[in-house]
Amino acid sequence: MSSTNIPKDGTIVILTGAGISKESGLDTFRDADGLWSKVNIEDVATPEAFMRNPKMVQEFYNARRKTMASGNIKPNAAHHALARLEKEWGGEVVIVTQNIDDLHEQGGSDKILHMHGEMLKIRCEKCNMVLPWKEDLTVEVPCTECSAQGALRPHVVWFGEMPFYIEEIYQALENCVLFISIGTSGNVYPAAGFVSHVRRYGFGQTVELNLEPSDGASTFHQSIYGAATEIVPTYVEELLTS
Ligand code: APR
Repeated sequence: MSSTNIPKDGTIVILTGAGISKESGLDTFRDADGLWSKVNIEDVATPEAFMRNPKMVQEFYNARRKTMASGNIKPNAAHHALARLEKEWGGEVVIVTQNIDDLHEQGGSDKILHMHGEMLKIRCEKCNMVLPWKEDLTVEVPCTECSAQGALRPHVVWFGEMPFYIEEIYQALENCVLFISIGTSGNVYPAAGFVSHVRRYGFGQTVELNLEPSDGASTFHQSIYGAATEIVPTYVEELLTS
């Protein structure tokens, strides 16, 4: 399959994972030096962990939020290439990201669905208020909306919780002419099943752009391997000029 036979006014759905932010200086999860090699998912990324030890969970996200809020983490050429695609493509471009950083926003993309939430937002478990938050969060901070104590949590989807925007995402997958997966290991569902959903219920071409074959590599029509900052701009250029 080449990118020349993609209808220029069709919808493109792009799934991104931690690999697209790696060259901006953010850790991935499952690479050898990834986050899950340093801390256990069960201790910081489940609702049970938050019930058991909210302080540890808050500190884990405080450290990641501080890194993002420092301003030292910048979007890279891959983020900018996707923003260019959204501006110059004749149809809609929808980014479905598993990432909780704001590098797609900083890179200039508009249509972004954060299916695993956003680390620079917090949510009240009592009144469901969501608000931007760049400081440390502690269990002592009361909700500004309902004054509940200890109810504020990162607006992030933990293991065992439902990801956001699922209906909208499946609609887009079933109606896209191209599904591109970038920088994800294909380990975590439902995102890991999106390519199969396109193949089964949609009609789009499917392409994987990754440093190495993901768990779902064989399901894609086409695979391109390399560093995101190299292969993503090249692929976008080909899509726009072919
Ligand atoms: N360019 C392109 N791909 C890269 C790069 C790079 N520079 N560096 C790493 N990768 C690839 C890795 O080869 C790997 O396949 O990015 C992928 C990262 O995989 P994971 O660490 O598993 O991250 P991700 O797929 O986003 O994880 C999905 O799991 O822990 C949960 O909620 C968390 O959203 C996350 C989800």
